[in-house]
Amino acid sequence: MSLALANPAAISLAAGFVDAATLPVEEVSAACSRVLCDAEQNRAALQYGPNVGDGQLRQWIAQRNFSERPLDHAHRMILTAGSNQFLQLASESLLDSGDIVLCAAPTYFVYLYILRDLGARPFGVATDHEGLIPAELHATLQSIEEAGDLERVKILYLVPYSDNPAATTMSASRRREILDVLDRWSGRATITLLTDNAYRDLRYEGEDVPSFTDLGADPAWIVETGTFSKNLSPGLRIGWGTAPEPLHTAIERRKAIIDFGSPHFNQKVALAILQSGQFDQHLVQLRAAYKVKRDAMVDACRRYLGGIQGVSFQVPNGGLYVWLTLPESIDAGPKGALWEAAIKAGVLYVPGGFFYPHEGAPTRHNTARLTFGVQPIDRIDAGIRILASVLN
Ligand SMILES: Cc1ncc(COP(=O)(O)O)c(C=O)c1O
Repeated sequence: MSLALANPAAISLAAGFVDAATLPVEEVSAACSRVLCDAEQNRAALQYGPNVGDGQLRQWIAQRNFSERPLDHAHRMILTAGSNQFLQLASESLLDSGDIVLCAAPTYFVYLYILRDLGARPFGVATDHEGLIPAELHATLQSIEEAGDLERVKILYLVPYSDNPAATTMSASRRREILDVLDRWSGRATITLLTDNAYRDLRYEGEDVPSFTDLGADPAWIVETGTFSKNLSPGLRIGWGTAPEPLHTAIERRKAIIDFGSPHFNQKVALAILQSGQFDQHLVQLRAAYKVKRDAMVDACRRYLGGIQGVSFQVPNGGLYVWLTLPESIDAGPKGALWEAAIKAGVLYVPGGFFYPHEGAPTRHNTARLTFGVQPIDRIDAGIRILASVLN
């Protein structure tokens, strides 16, 4: 982000911001008026709210995200200032320093920073075109057991919908296989499955895949989180997460100490949009807008990078990212030649090495994350063209 600010002329395919043109200015403005003009709820909206978040909003989220027993899920839910806060609170509550968190290699790098900040050990598991590989999960657990560290494994973290950065979506059968592996180890290890569904609504093809909860994950060991940052507005800072007891109470207590609950007014405004039915319309427009940009980036990658030996990428079915694999000999990191040359030529990307835990499956430095979220189509095309010429 600071490099983008320092090089205003450069085309940033780096920061994972949402497209400003898609932000629902009119809908939020109308919802604010509705909340403030409603004499029965305007003062309550401007007052402190429940520490766990607005009850009606929790119910709406639960109904939308879980096919059965929405009320139970609403009770298990805590609204937070973005899902990042939920990830932090849940991890802080579950982990002691030195505990191991298994995750895909590569994975969402801000979560890696949260874990390192807590003194935990993020541990990478190898991935393929669907994300984390179940057999590799089993093998990783075996090797950790042989090292005598099995009781330190506390969390398996997954981003199963249009992952950040690799843009993979796990099929239902892949999810079931992962649940099977966890089941096999459940007698020996106490692992909470933490699924981060941040990009679930940004799907441009195919059907929605059921969540791990809906696929039968053990309710005592599943934590799911989501956010309105990608499908509505990150500035509203509304995230959510569900947790079993006693984790739910632990998170609630921590949150009460920190902030007495996340901004109540923002939650009421979001609820007004959701209840008006405008949200589904907004999603249709959002998906259409991002699909065009996704196609533009994929076309540009095919056109300009396709001829370069050793370069590959998978077409993402959702999310905001394209994950590039470069020839083995290229280090795309900040110490490599490509990074400097790309900045000089006027294009920014995120080095793929940032997304790897330092333990487990090895870091692949010949990778890069590109985003089509922010730039208009012509600059997406120009950015890939410049990157290709630098690579050449
Ligand atoms: C995978 C993933 N999880 C969580 C977040 C956090 O989003 P927020 O805190 O805005 O809800 C992001 C943001 O980019 C993300 O990519």
